[in-house]
This record gives sequence, C-alpha cells and structure tokens, in this order.
Amino acid sequence: RGLQHCHLLGLFALFVTGKCSYSPEPDQQRRLPPGWVSLGRADPEEELSLTFALRQQNVKRLSELVQAVSDPGSPHYGKYLTLEDVAELVRPSPLTLHTVQKWLLAAGARNCHSVTTQDFLTCWLSVRQAELLLPGAEFHHYVGGPADTHAVRSPHPYRLPKALAPHVDFVGGLHRFPPTSTLRQRPEPQVPGTVGLHLGVTPSVIRKRYNLTAQDVGSGTTNNSQACAQFLEQYFHDSDLAEFMRLFGGDFAHQASVARVVGQQGRGRAGIEASLDVEYLMSAGANISTWVYSSPGRHESQEPFLQWLLLLSNESALPYVHTVSYGDDEDSLSSTYIQRVNTELMKAAARGLTLLFASGDSGAGCWSVSGRHQFRPSFPASSPYVTTVGGTSFQNPFRITDEVVDYISGGGFSNVFPRPSYQEEAVTRYLSSSPHLPPSSYFNASGRAYPDVAALSDGYWVVSNHVPIPWVSGTSVRITNTPTFQPQDLASTPVFGGLLSLINEHRILRGLPPLGFLNPRLYQQRGAGLFDVTRGCHESCLNEEVEGQGFCSGPGWDPVTGWGTPNFPALLKTLMNP
Ligand SMILES: *[C@@H]1O[C@H](CO)[C@@H](O)[C@H](O)[C@H]1NC(C)=O
Ligand SMILES: *[C@@H]1O[C@H](CO)[C@@H](O)[C@H](O)[C@H]1NC(C)=O
Ligand SMILES: *[C@@H]1O[C@H](CO)[C@@H](O)[C@H](O)[C@H]1NC(C)=O
Ligand SMILES: *[C@@H]1O[C@H](CO)[C@@H](O)[C@H](O)[C@H]1NC(C)=O
Ligand SMILES: *[C@@H]1O[C@H](CO)[C@@H](O)[C@H](O)[C@H]1NC(C)=O
Repeated sequence: RGLQHCHLLGLFALFVTGKCSYSPEPDQQRRLPPGWVSLGRADPEEELSLTFALRQQNVKRLSELVQAVSDPGSPHYGKYLTLEDVAELVRPSPLTLHTVQKWLLAAGARNCHSVTTQDFLTCWLSVRQAELLLPGAEFHHYVGGPADTHAVRSPHPYRLPKALAPHVDFVGGLHRFPPTSTLRQRPEPQVPGTVGLHLGVTPSVIRKRYNLTAQDVGSGTTNNSQACAQFLEQYFHDSDLAEFMRLFGGDFAHQASVARVVGQQGRGRAGIEASLDVEYLMSAGANISTWVYSSPGRHESQEPFLQWLLLLSNESALPYVHTVSYGDDEDSLSSTYIQRVNTELMKAAARGLTLLFASGDSGAGCWSVSGRHQFRPSFPASSPYVTTVGGTSFQNPFRITDEVVDYISGGGFSNVFPRPSYQEEAVTRYLSSSPHLPPSSYFNASGRAYPDVAALSDGYWVVSNHVPIPWVSGTSVRITNTPTFQPQDLASTPVFGGLLSLINEHRILRGLPPLGFLNPRLYQQRGAGLFDVTRGCHESCLNEEVEGQGFCSGPGWDPVTGWGTPNFPALLKTLMNP
C-alpha cells in the first residue's frame, strides 16, 4: 500500500507536483492540425463532456473468442457473442467501477452516462472542475476545418492520480481534433477526342464491372441492414439521395431513403463525402435497409469516432456491416488510445459485425523521423481486427476494363500491431517475391499489412446539394462552380460493404450466420471470388531514394490492393459455404 499517501481525494498539490500522478497518453500528438486556430482559454464555468475509458477485463480471452468465431476451421465459427456476452466478459472489475465513480463524484462530475459494457463513462463537468480533476489540462477554444467546426481541447497533457493507473485507460475529449476532409485535388483525366465519351463511375458501371445482375438486391424479407459512419462536419440530404437514384438508380431495385439516422443531422449544406458514402452503399448493397451514423459537432468537447465506439457498445441490435470514414496517422495517436480502440474493434468482431475502413488516400504515406524518411501507416486501417479497403482505377479510364492500382490508394505495414497469423503466408510470399520492394528502412515488415481487399475509387459521380458532380470537373463536363476536387477511395469502402451485405442477405435467407470479421476467411480462401489487381504502384515519399513510389501490386495479395476487387457471383459462391 505504498500509494496510501497518494490518496485519491484531496492532496491535489501532490498530483500537480507529479509525485502522485502519471500521464496516460504522453505520446499523443497535441499539435494543432492545419487550418485550426485558437480562440483563447475557455471560461471556467463552461460545461464540457469528457469520456473516461475504464480498464476492461479478459481482453486476451476476447481476442481468442474473436479468432474462434471468425475462423472457418473452428467449431465455434459464426457462433457470435451478443452484446450482453461481451459485457459479461470485458466489464471492468467492481473495484475499478467503484474507484472511478468515487473519484468523479468527488470532483463534482454530474450526469455521467455509462454503456452496456460499462467500460466507458461520459460525464459533464465545468472547465474548472475538469482542470482540477486532470492536472496539467488547460481547456481552450479552437475553430477550424472547412465547416468552421468548434472544439474545446487542451494543448497540454493531462495527468491522472497514480491510484487510477490500474483503472483508467485514457480520458477522451482533450487532445484529438475532429477529422477534417480527406478529399484532395488531383489532375483531371485527359478526355480523348470529344466530350461525352465516358460518363465516369456510376452505380451501373460498378454493378456491371462487379458482375451484379438486377436480381442482386436485398429481398426485403430479412432484418439485414448496413451502415455507414462518418465524422466530418457534414450532412447528407435525403433529397440528394433521391436525385441520385433518379439519375443513376434506374436499373436496380433500391430503397428510397435511409432507414435510420443515428446522431444529429444539421441543416447545413450537404458534404460530398457524406453523400458519396450513402449513395454508393445503397447502390451496391441495393434494397438493403441502411443506417447512417452522423455525428457532426454534437458537443464541442467530443471526439466523434470515440462517440461512435460508445454507440456500438450501447446497442444490442446493430447492422451487420459498417463502413467507416475515419483514419489518422498511426504515429499521431497515443499507444494507449490505439490499443483501446483496437479492443473496441475486437468487441465488434466478436459480435459478428463486419467493420470496413478505407486504407487512406496518400499511398504509402511519408514522414520524416530524425531526418530519415519513412512510410506512414494509418489507423484504424492498420488494425488486425478490421477489413481494410484499397482503391483501383480502370486500366482504360473510359471503358469498363480490368483494374489497376489507384496511385493514391493507401497501404503498408503497421508500426504498432504485429502481423496477425491469418496473413502470415500471404505477406511472407509478397515480401519474398515482389520485384519492386522499397528499401526496408521505409517500413516495418513485421507489422500488420493492409489493405485486405480493394474496389474502384476513381472518377465517381455523386449528387450533393442537388448538383450532380461528375468525375471530370474541367472545362468539358463541369456543371457548376462546385469545387474541382475528386471523391477519393472513400467510395471503395461503401461499395465493398454493400456487396458484403448482399452476401449476408443470401446467408441469412439460408439460415447461416452473417459474415462477421472477414479476414481469417478471406486469407484462407486466398483471393477466391476476387479479381486480382496486378498492375501499378502507389505513391510515397518524393525523394531520390524511392522517387515517389511506394509498394507495387502483383499476383496474389499485395499491400496496395490486398487480394483484389469483387467478382460478385464468384465471391458469393465462396462465401456461401457454411
Ligand atoms: C446508453 O444507453 C442507455 C439506455 O438507452 C442511456 O441511458 C445511456 O445514456 C447511453 N449511454 C451513453 C454514453 O450515451
Ligand atoms: C464477370 O466479369 C468478368 C470480367 O468483367 C468476366 O470475365 C466474367 O466472365 C464474369 N462472370 C463471372 C460469373 O465471373
Ligand atoms: C426490395 O425490398 C422491398 C421491401 O423493402 C421488397 O418489397 C421488394 O420486393 C424488394 N425488391 C426486390 C426486387 O427484391
Ligand atoms: C436480426 O434478427 C436476429 C434474430 O432474431 C437478431 O439476433 C438480430 O439482432 C437482428 N438484427 C437486427 C439488426 O435487428
Ligand atoms: C515494428 O513493428 C513492431 C510490431 O510489429 C513494433 O513492436 C516495433 O516497435 C515496430 N518498429 C518501429 C521502428 O516502429
């Protein structure tokens, strides 16, 4: 009991001097993201909400169960846990619950909300109380992003009483800023000859390339559903979806509107990314009930992605497939946060939820560590518990042809998570046979490699704010004065997700469990049912050593397009085996 004198209540002086406190996230990046400015210190009486991640139990057991329910060779394959089962397993110990509650109550925290698994608490405090509770923290107002989002954050690290070290993983709402758009400009394709040769990627182009017929839609007789989640300060409009389907949804049955919006939908302008996600999820996973998680700026102090994880842990009946537009540089996040989010992704996998993340849109990425360039992996794309989707382009951009690498498609190797056993063989084979491997100092060959699969990511049409926006935004086909950016490989993720939902539909109708966490099965099947993408490399550091080139695709799995893009009838066939 050496910590006796560091008692939880009182003795704040000791916390502040650091003798009785510790920093749970010393490695969290606190630099202001580009485009954000400080508006000065928050008023001490202002209210903010913070999220406390409580230490879970049985995390190792949870990872074993994920393996058992996701591995087709296991007798427990498809025997998913319910949310209540997961709660039973990971719920914090009574000591943890008691200690944290006592600490928060003493600090004056009010209105604390827990989740079914009891491993998160969201509480309201005044800025004054929060700064006393978390020595070191100093709350400031910030504004930034294309939508002038407001946030309250601390530019300085917070500390916690040492007595809490066994009980709290981290406190959310202090450092990480809401994500801003990942869209970026890229050169417009040269249209050969006259205008109008090609319409760009529409639902019928997607459905044709991936061999979907008019019959490949949801039957409307199951409780199958799918969701997209996105955390930009963006909305989608039902009227845009209706217009999109009027223009492009003529040859397949589809639902007219989103079945459920979770979170708040503001009345602002629609965002292109929000529109794109919904429009393509509902065109690939056509006629399947669709939810949208939308969390624009609910409270200034919240981390939207964290809020989404809390929602997952607080609702027992959820859509089977989730496509998520969120990613950060692995190196910018604290290891405590990354590990805890990874456990949350495990909890979802144990329940048979399929989580799909985009692999990113900066190729292998690039940053400099003590003067040396390296590739830059992205998280949660690098989590071993999600299926990560890369991007491709048509080889002939004006025809429905074979696909090649979309040079911006994210991919690479994690510096945090070791290579999971399911991909051991595939990654070893790639590393030993690829003729164009970048220098080994640029990536961590022992890490989890991603993406796992891919889909078209280039040249989509989207309807946003009533305006159809084509892939060519130059002089020829440009319709309005909308910005000339191109939706990126965000759309490959909802497209792949929609197709998995169609496969779930068949599985449910046949009395089989939904696909759940796909990777163990995907790697065992060695790309069966997918078009192997074998041509092209993605981008990386612009220096003499690598000359802007990251990894290259090749036969079989590669860290640019994974196993490849879906050939629906063939994929359905292989994924219909029990
Ligand atoms: C979780 O759900 C319960 C019951 O619906 C609700 O009372 C609680 O506030 C929710 N928790 C959070 C953190 O929102
Ligand atoms: C699917 O599409 C490919 C290429 O577009 C084609 O070669 C193939 O025959 C199609 N049908 C099936 C069932 O794979
Ligand atoms: C589409 O779903 C509806 C129910 O939402 C159902 O009535 C209809 O038959 C479905 N369409 C097709 C072609 O299966
Ligand atoms: C669908 O039905 C099954 C079986 O009744 C149930 O376990 C599951 O939670 C339901 N899913 C949704 C999304 O409602
Ligand atoms: C490489 O990845 C492993 C996990 O696979 C990790 O433990 C190690 O720290 C990483 N190395 C670097 C230099 O990041």
